[in-house]
Amino acid sequence: MKTGTSKTALITGASSGIGRELARLFAQDGYNLVLVSRGENTLNELATELKSTTDTQKVTVLQKDLSKEKAAQELYNEVKQQGITVDVLVNDAGVGVHGMFANETDWEQESAMIHLNTISLTHLTKLFLKDMVARDEGKILNLASIVSVMPSPLMAVYAGTKAYVQNFTQSLVNELKGTNVTITALMPNATDTDFFNKAGAENTRVTEQLDDPVMVARDGYKALMKGEAKVVAGGLVNKSYEVLAHIASEEALAAMMRKNMEPKDENSKSMSKKTQNQIAMGIGLAVVGLLGFALANSYSNLNAYEKARYRYKLNRTGKKVKKAVNQTRETVADTVANAKATVENALADYQKAY
Ligand SMILES: NC(=O)c1ccc[n+]([C@@H]2O[C@H](COP(=O)([O-])OP(=O)(O)OC[C@H]3O[C@@H](n4cnc5c(N)ncnc54)[C@H](OP(=O)(O)O)[C@@H]3O)[C@@H](O)[C@H]2O)c1
Repeated sequence: MKTGTSKTALITGASSGIGRELARLFAQDGYNLVLVSRGENTLNELATELKSTTDTQKVTVLQKDLSKEKAAQELYNEVKQQGITVDVLVNDAGVGVHGMFANETDWEQESAMIHLNTISLTHLTKLFLKDMVARDEGKILNLASIVSVMPSPLMAVYAGTKAYVQNFTQSLVNELKGTNVTITALMPNATDTDFFNKAGAENTRVTEQLDDPVMVARDGYKALMKGEAKVVAGGLVNKSYEVLAHIASEEALAAMMRKNMEPKDENSKSMSKKTQNQIAMGIGLAVVGLLGFALANSYSNLNAYEKARYRYKLNRTGKKVKKAVNQTRETVADTVANAKATVENALADYQKAY
């Protein structure tokens, strides 16, 4: 156990799921904590656990409903009044709402979700980031999702809020370059927390294959500490979803995601290993193809002097550059087209099968 840091991490949504696991990781590294959510009793229980099992002694519990107007400002004021400097901000609190947008979901619930998932997250980032930039030190972790990069029918507004979080975070990554302040987006796949129950999606296919929140928190924590711009939690299959989002059409992605969010039935199965492998293979091919494109395009963008240098070097190896570049372009275009077709066929098979 590493101990002795006098730093403080403020974690919203610390009472359960991914947020609670993140709190445990900070405590193990000796951070002081500010734990925030609506559930004061659960937070107090966690505070007692952390104080007795780790070296963390200063744990402050602040009860706040972040779906309410002005909640972020009130939270910031309370932290300031207590003289706490927040070194790390974790914007984890978030909820989902499941159902057809036109006639099943409730606007009050959706509006509260938009406020919690986007407005409070943005406002807290604004308030604490200003202080971090002034001190030229600090870290922020924002909970995005794998659905940040894909349409998600039956969770349409939720997916919209997570797309916002991802886009907002990546924009700030750029704005913060040259400072010692970093911001990271954590993109989990479906995770085994209370999330789907609370969203009214407990009987959907997606709940048949859930990731462990301990693993998700650990991947997010590592990326945050390294100051990475984003991380897709988990292994290759999860990471391939992000690549898939750049390859498959939005129509195919939406159809795949809709299947996942539909109710389970007796015959329902989540995506088969064969389909997952086909998708992974298509993605692999596409990545190779895209790298080829990048190489060919970077050659085209070189200035005349640099091109001449490369031509000279390659001519010495007996190769004609222009021909090589054109051949590479044609080959990679074919590879990407084949990869795209492989992925889309796999998705179409999946849709037909279920
Ligand atoms: N589980 C997944 O599959 C998944 C996947 C991708 C991203 N995420 C994101 O991960 C984050 C954490 O979710 P989770 O899966 O850990 O779900 P969870 O177990 O339900 O935890 C949600 C946390 O947010 C807090 N919260 C909810 N409404 C709040 C409000 N109005 N004000 C303040 N706090 C509130 C909850 O505490 P109280 O109820 O005590 O207020 C709880 O601590 C969310 O942003 C979610 O969108 C989850």
